Amino acid sequence: MRKATAVAHPNIAFVKFWGKVDEALNLPANPSLSMNLAALTTVTTVEYRPGYRKDAVTIDHQPVSGPAWDRIVAHLDRVRALAGIDDRARVVSVNNFPVGTGLASSASGFAALSLAAVRAAGLEMSEAALSRLARQGSGSACRSVPGGFTLWEGDTDETSWARQVAPPEHWDLRDVVAVVEHRPKAVSSSTGHRLARTSPFYAARLAWVPELLSAAMEGIQRRDLARLGEAAEADALALHGVMMTSRPSLLYWQPATVQVMQAVRAWREEGLSVYFTIDAGPNVHCLCLAGAAGEVETRLRNLSGVQSVVVSGPGDGVRLTDQHLF
Ligand code: PMV
Repeated sequence: MRKATAVAHPNIAFVKFWGKVDEALNLPANPSLSMNLAALTTVTTVEYRPGYRKDAVTIDHQPVSGPAWDRIVAHLDRVRALAGIDDRARVVSVNNFPVGTGLASSASGFAALSLAAVRAAGLEMSEAALSRLARQGSGSACRSVPGGFTLWEGDTDETSWARQVAPPEHWDLRDVVAVVEHRPKAVSSSTGHRLARTSPFYAARLAWVPELLSAAMEGIQRRDLARLGEAAEADALALHGVMMTSRPSLLYWQPATVQVMQAVRAWREEGLSVYFTIDAGPNVHCLCLAGAAGEVETRLRNLSGVQSVVVSGPGDGVRLTDQHLF
């Protein structure tokens, strides 16, 4: 096979990855736990052709160049080395959501690229091996390889990959994303990971992670939203504390970010069970049960700072499709 197409979803982490112990290998300073987002998809087609002089990449109909192209070529090189081929590739990728807003397009992007590039090269890989490969492209991409709820652990290149802790059908949780800004974020997560250790709070958060992780795992296993939500909210605040106290300081929040956080807490006081988490961007992910998602969405849309709302349930892992993009 010379051509293959894969579909992947981004993921939202309940306990997040922030800081690397090995930047070249994308080895995280702490384990992380997430859910794939069914409503958001990346579709990527890869084709190797002997005639090509250079890898040609387009994302959302725009030709890719510069550092983004270098990163994709480095990933294709990993696959070419494994397959023992030298052919250049054409890569076409399409997202159904805005890139660079903190909706984690690099996670779905590198998960889909990994599977499409591997299969187009004629390789077969276990889920673990594919997750490990995706991790080398973008850390959190390893969590988009298995389906549903996934845990990324492991300290070495060989052992650092994500596995499923519960399938999508296990729990009809919803991530109702309040998009407060559509523009790409000002500081990439790669830069953020590098700065993390400059925060005096970095070690404190890492020391807290095991407790937060076991609470979040228990929340998922028992389908206990309060247990999961409290841990996720606490971890997001600890993470943003690290970001804000890094040198230089990172402040991803906008006024509307705080507006949503305050509203979520007020709604909870009123008895609506909803919790927030925030990635390296200004958008707020609101976690609730499927039955409350309509109400949460309506309330979010009524907040002045919210530009759009995306509702997503738990998504599958990366998979092949025969709907090639070219
Ligand atoms: O995988 P990266 O390098 O894009 O980092 C992801 C960072 C966060 O989204 C903030 C946290 C996470 O675990 O997804």
